[in-house]
Amino acid sequence: MTNVQLIAALPKAELHVHVEGTLEPALKFDLAARNGVRLPYDSPQAVRDAYSFTDLTSFLVQYYDGMNVLLTEPDFYDLAMAYFTRAASDHVRWVELFFDPQAHTSRGVPFDIVIRGLRRAQLDAEATLGVRSALIMCFLRDFTPEFAMATLLESLPYRQWILGVGLDSDESDNPPAKFAAVFARARQEGYFLTMHCDVDQADSIEHIRQALHEIGVQRLDHGTNIVESPDLVAEVGRRRIGLTCCPVSNTWVSESSKSHLIKQLLDAGVKVTINSDDPAYFNGYLNANLELVDAEQHLTRAELTQLVRNAFEVSWAPTSLRDEWL
Ligand code: ADE
Ligand code: ZN
Repeated sequence: MTNVQLIAALPKAELHVHVEGTLEPALKFDLAARNGVRLPYDSPQAVRDAYSFTDLTSFLVQYYDGMNVLLTEPDFYDLAMAYFTRAASDHVRWVELFFDPQAHTSRGVPFDIVIRGLRRAQLDAEATLGVRSALIMCFLRDFTPEFAMATLLESLPYRQWILGVGLDSDESDNPPAKFAAVFARARQEGYFLTMHCDVDQADSIEHIRQALHEIGVQRLDHGTNIVESPDLVAEVGRRRIGLTCCPVSNTWVSESSKSHLIKQLLDAGVKVTINSDDPAYFNGYLNANLELVDAEQHLTRAELTQLVRNAFEVSWAPTSLRDEWL
């Protein structure tokens, strides 16, 4: 069996994928037509051709712009169901799905509409595709902590549908500590905690330290910059903090996939995992991300299997489900 075949065959978990980042150009077109939203492109291919990101900020502009077609509960259902269907074809069995409620409520789309659509897709995906999942609600770090807190409070009636909270969007000048009170309250409410510490951001090491020491996150999204600090590598390894790395995404917003850092961290015993981030924009679902790391780092079967296993180990899946896979 080749490594590509092994990647396809292994049951997998995905811990870092933004549902809004799974909006494929073709679905964007369908939703625009359904909702009477005008797109400045005449075909799905023209949408894709227009994607050109050189860094996180330029990606985020197109990412938020794309969301304007998402308006109704069936839109969110169709979005999530399309992702689950694609994930099933990659043999993904467990997904922790990020969503960005503020990107919708700030446009006038109610929280309730967003979460009901996602929830209905989760139930159908489990029943019809065998893909189980949980939601992680991300706060947008370029908005205020007050807006994040209001969103946290708005989520409480749906507490049972949300497993954890995260922090994403534009990292520059938006450190984790800005959201300390919000995350402290989220912890009190029993949410798991994670935060983006994107590759190659200014003050990355300081942001990672804040996330680990002031916020007390249980995982770091991306987080590969810890390699700059041997102390952090040792701490993250010892505390079995999961890093949710996204190599294909890195090739768009940075100068490389950072697979050499992923390999270095894997060798150091850190719980690195491979994920797709925004696969409709970066053109690579989970298996493609694993294949990229394998192609660049010439992984052994044991190393590949360890990367896949790490995701189940650091997942927040119920223990009974984790026991099935580990
Ligand atoms: N939102 C969606 N994808 C993101 C990423 N990779 N980093 C920060 N915010 C995001
Ligand atoms: Zn992300």
